[in-house]
Amino acid sequence: FSSSRAMAGAIKHVTVIGGGLMGSGIAQVSAAAGQKVCLVETNDKLLEGANSRIHESLKRVAKKVYKEKPAEGDKFVEQTMSRISGATDASEAVKNTDLVVEAIVENMAIKQKLFATLDAVAPKHTIFASNTSSLSITEIASQCQRKDRFGGLHFFNPVPVMKLLEVVRTNDTSDDTFKKMMEWGQEVGKTCITCKDTPGFVVNRLLVPMLAEAVRMLERGDASPRDIDTAMKLGAGHPMGPIELADYVGHDTTKFILDGWHEKMPENPLFNPLDTLNKLVSEGKLGMKTGEGFYSYK
Ligand code: CAA
Ligand code: NAD
Repeated sequence: FSSSRAMAGAIKHVTVIGGGLMGSGIAQVSAAAGQKVCLVETNDKLLEGANSRIHESLKRVAKKVYKEKPAEGDKFVEQTMSRISGATDASEAVKNTDLVVEAIVENMAIKQKLFATLDAVAPKHTIFASNTSSLSITEIASQCQRKDRFGGLHFFNPVPVMKLLEVVRTNDTSDDTFKKMMEWGQEVGKTCITCKDTPGFVVNRLLVPMLAEAVRMLERGDASPRDIDTAMKLGAGHPMGPIELADYVGHDTTKFILDGWHEKMPENPLFNPLDTLNKLVSEGKLGMKTGEGFYSYK
């Protein structure tokens, strides 16, 4: 235990709300780092799905980290899984927790309602954080009393692999809360950066306009999807090209982010709606998760 970790009030128990793509990854890295985790979903079937996703991903990690020692790898998987419990009642789950990380649907009203409900029942010291991709943390926290104990913890997909964590502080986030969020982020194995509560923080504010520009290139017929992707992989060192990455992120997500920012900042042409994206979403071609986007994954 480092001196800061042993400090009274350090985060040891985390409640992750939403066990989808991001929430299951957040629960996984927290438990792998020794935290007690409660994962909250809306029903038992979704909880089971989250658990099996975590189990599969842990096996991948173990295979890599404990390559020469498979028995130790099995133990790592088993011990990590044993630190994760499941729940379907968020109000009950937060009664004994130090940190709540919310990773539910990207909808302001639903997030506000969830946090307002939890604010009334969570212990006083509990820190609330949202993993939102594009919404204002200040607005999400607006119906809570604990604005000083509220911030953003923005992870990246796939959570077990991506090394960055954006730690977002609002004008109301206290120094103590911010320090605890940074320490927790480091403890769960991420490199943390400090962000203000601005649209998209750092990564998405740069990434989303780049994806949109790549789609505009396609719309103009400047280059093929494969050539745009090859260009950015081999010419700019990106692990995925922007068209491939748009399929990976999901066109519903990118459209939602762009539309939200366009509504708030109509003067900024970077956020203008994209006909191609709107068409793909209306056809249900959301990218890798549906088997088809710009590319086919069937
Ligand atoms: N769990 C555990 N390990 C995983 C994993 C998972 N879910 N997914 C991948 N891995 C591991 C693999 O086991 C593999 O490990 P080794 O190299 O040691 O064998 C490693 O990660 C690489 O995986 P793959 O070989 O399957 O594939 P890859 O080399 O093509 O890498 C990738 C896949 C990590 C996704 C890489 O392509 C990449 O970094 N792409 C860019 C992803 C990105 O930009 N993410 C951010 C999206 S934006 C966002 O998240 C923010 C938002 O708000 C929308
Ligand atoms: P997802 O759809 O995979 O998962 C959301 C989960 O939340 C679902 O399983 C749903 O059943 C559950 N849920 C909804 N309401 C709930 C409630 N009231 N209580 C408990 N569970 C509830 O979504 P995701 O991709 O994991 O995204 C979650 C959040 O993370 C969003 O705010 C998103 O913007 C953000 N985010 C997404 C990515 C990404 O690449 N997908 C990256 C970073 C941040």
